[in-house]
Amino acid sequence: MNLEAALGLIGEVPDFPEPGVLFRDLSPLFADGDGFATVVNALAETVDPDVELLAAVEARGFMLAAAVGYARGLGVVLVRKPGKLPAVAGRIDYALEYGTAALELPSGVTHPGARVAVVDDVLATGGTVAAACSLLDQAGAVVTGISVVLELAALDGRATLRDRKVHSLLTS
Ligand code: PRP
Ligand code: HPA
Repeated sequence: MNLEAALGLIGEVPDFPEPGVLFRDLSPLFADGDGFATVVNALAETVDPDVELLAAVEARGFMLAAAVGYARGLGVVLVRKPGKLPAVAGRIDYALEYGTAALELPSGVTHPGARVAVVDDVLATGGTVAAACSLLDQAGAVVTGISVVLELAALDGRATLRDRKVHSLLTS
């Protein structure tokens, strides 16, 4: 399957999770073997050659980063929602398109100067990925770039991420 067809599997659900939000549903894409492989391979190509480690945001980021990491021979740091990690290097609270959230970075999984690429499914306001990047910054890692499947242009996540390098397979 080509990339355009794979990305065409992403659905749109009006008024989810609250009125006025047009939710992009990646479930049909994730459930299609050809489509998923096409998107994972395309995402893997956006990761710079000198990257040492991937960081992924719970939950959908985990499955994409795991597949990209396998394709590129890279390990994955799991940036998690609170209360899941036994030893935490840092925590950041941030705003979402709908509601608020927090993320934590596990301790001992990265080192100062490590070159890390962040992988997630959707860039909306950018708050989630910005929080993940800040956690990595605080740990002394070098965030080389951010790779997402879908960027929602209207929410201008790139502005939140300022001068970080963003790769998106689809802007909508
Ligand atoms: C979703 C999505 C991104 C984030 C994007 O995560 O997977 O991580 O929101 O929004 P932002 O750019 O406005 O921060 P969410 O935690 O809602 O869901 P998930 O646990 O299913 O991945
Ligand atoms: N789809 C999936 N995840 C999201 C969205 C969306 O439309 N907006 C923020 N996170």
